[in-house]
Amino acid sequence: MRHDHLITSKQLSRADIETVLDHAAEIDADRSAVADKYSDRLLGLLFFEPSTRTKLSFETAMKRLGGDVIDMGSVDSSSVTKGESLADTIRVIEGYADALVLRHPKQGAATMASEFVDVPLVNAGDGAGHHPTQTMLDLYTIRENAGLDDLTIGIMGDLKYGRTVHSLAYALTKFDAQQHFISPDSLALPREVVYDLHQEGASIREHDGLEEVLPSLDVLYVTRIQRERFPDENEYQKVAGEYQIGPDSLSSASDDLTIMHPLPRVDEIAPEVDDTEYAAYFEQAHNGVPVRMALLDLLLGDSDD
Ligand code: CP
Repeated sequence: MRHDHLITSKQLSRADIETVLDHAAEIDADRSAVADKYSDRLLGLLFFEPSTRTKLSFETAMKRLGGDVIDMGSVDSSSVTKGESLADTIRVIEGYADALVLRHPKQGAATMASEFVDVPLVNAGDGAGHHPTQTMLDLYTIRENAGLDDLTIGIMGDLKYGRTVHSLAYALTKFDAQQHFISPDSLALPREVVYDLHQEGASIREHDGLEEVLPSLDVLYVTRIQRERFPDENEYQKVAGEYQIGPDSLSSASDDLTIMHPLPRVDEIAPEVDDTEYAAYFEQAHNGVPVRMALLDLLLGDSDD
């Protein structure tokens, strides 16, 4: 796989995805071959929105490759507060680093930023748009637990604003997957995403309840209601607390069901589920390190590697 920038999972072929997942599995089994590979390289972290997993797993990944990171820090401590544009900020930091990771609240920000830089830029989440590296670790976790072909997956919660959902849904069109989307009407998948999925020949269905599909699922991917994206707090309150998963709601699930969540969670999955065989969400978060090591190796490596 060689791409200058990673902005959306739409740009990835099945072969690209499998290259990343296979390389991540190699690194997961033995990371000694890449431990010092990038000792002279720096990764620039630009997070205009909060993050725990994405930021820290990119930092861990780069350091485990022998490299280091420079971090813009919080927006409040940067010159963004003086009115500096994203285009200027990114052009400056490009001169300090060998690759950039950008998270921004505005959908499309990563696409725009990528037009100003020559070093590889990775979209770490652009508003309600995309989060392709989350998708890579999601696919890695699905492949480890359920396999990626002949897969029946339920994707539940905030499908409107949930960028991890959009990226995952597009990527799953490259595999033999039946996708069931479960949400209240007000948080259904954007119609343009549904249209695109149909155009890609995806097998999809939409539901307003989990009960009818739960017994058929190999994977249940639960998401947080993205409170920060609602233009009106009253609208958030109408759907807050819907679609919670607890031990009682799983009585009709297959014994082999895998429950995933990109995290952070609020109250979508009860803590009692954490100790069941279903729960894979902490494993999923940990998979962020080998997957991002693999991605960075493929983005930073020489083309003849
Ligand atoms: N899943 C995810 O993107 O988590 P963070 O917001 O903590 O990075």
